Amino acid sequence: MKISVDLGERSYEVVVGEGVRTQLASLIALRAPRAERVAIVTSSSLRAQPWFDFEVGLATSILELPDGEQAKRPEHYVALVEALAERSLSRHDVVVGVGGGAITDVAGFAAATYLRGVPVIHVATTVAGQVDAAIGGKTGVNLRTGKNLLGAFHQPLGVLCDLATLHTLPERERRAGMGEVVKCALLEAQSSAWLARSSFESQMELAIALKARLVASDEREGSSRALLNYGHTLAHALEREAMVRSDVSLRHGEAVAIGLAFAARLARAVGRLDDRGVAEHDAALNIFQLPTRVPSVFDSSALLEAMSHDKKAHHDLTFVLAGAEGFSVVSGLAPDVVRTALDQFRGES
Ligand code: GLY
Repeated sequence: MKISVDLGERSYEVVVGEGVRTQLASLIALRAPRAERVAIVTSSSLRAQPWFDFEVGLATSILELPDGEQAKRPEHYVALVEALAERSLSRHDVVVGVGGGAITDVAGFAAATYLRGVPVIHVATTVAGQVDAAIGGKTGVNLRTGKNLLGAFHQPLGVLCDLATLHTLPERERRAGMGEVVKCALLEAQSSAWLARSSFESQMELAIALKARLVASDEREGSSRALLNYGHTLAHALEREAMVRSDVSLRHGEAVAIGLAFAARLARAVGRLDDRGVAEHDAALNIFQLPTRVPSVFDSSALLEAMSHDKKAHHDLTFVLAGAEGFSVVSGLAPDVVRTALDQFRGES
């Protein structure tokens, strides 16, 4: 299956299916015909996977980042661009990010900034990477102050979502990725019954098509692309708090799942959603056994504080909320309304 991201002369395709990683060489030949060198950016654990068998027919370097969010420390980005320079990559050459969202974010940011921009292609190897991070050109690294504070928009030449790479994912990782898929199904007003009966491929297609459409209509997140942040206000706060604790581990998709369950309750609290809508959210999340409650170790005041400092909230309590007319970005919610909804959510048995 191929889904286009229509951005004029920067348009590209997202190719989804078993074994599509083997299309890397032909994609480079088609989109970067003057390339002589390729730098594949990945991690040592991904490099050891049975599917890591890239043959591009050009001088190829393999550069490793740590797994997970550690990859997004700025020092790894600096080491990566130094490695590109040491290998004399030119503006005609290609960086290929092979991994989940953290790796493609850093590979993309290195490609965006090295020589003021070189081509990048992503081979996304996690569910969240395939439906979200690898598509749309957001790249970046973390600062001590917060996630993704140093970054750039840099669209790839193409994205390969090889479903074969998901077979080796740890079960928790794969399930957590479905948090982003459920988000997309809710945004597309697909019922939980549809999610329960549809194939994994159809669920991925729905999510990728939505992402491609929103990126094409609003590349720089001035308006509709912000809907992709559904569930993310609380999710980012949970992740931020989890980062400083050793007694809780939370995957991004799990935080999004909790954020979606809360966003439904907040929408109900402000009269935008009824009980049925809330139940639909819970039913959709339950299909994939995603968490729907804030772990008890978190402090509500700290979460509220973190939510009002969310980078995307512009120093205001901002949420994407469901409503009778569809989803919208709602700003300026009174802190006590959010606090009451959060307390009630946490008090549910
Ligand atoms: N991850 C949300 C976006 O790409 O806009």
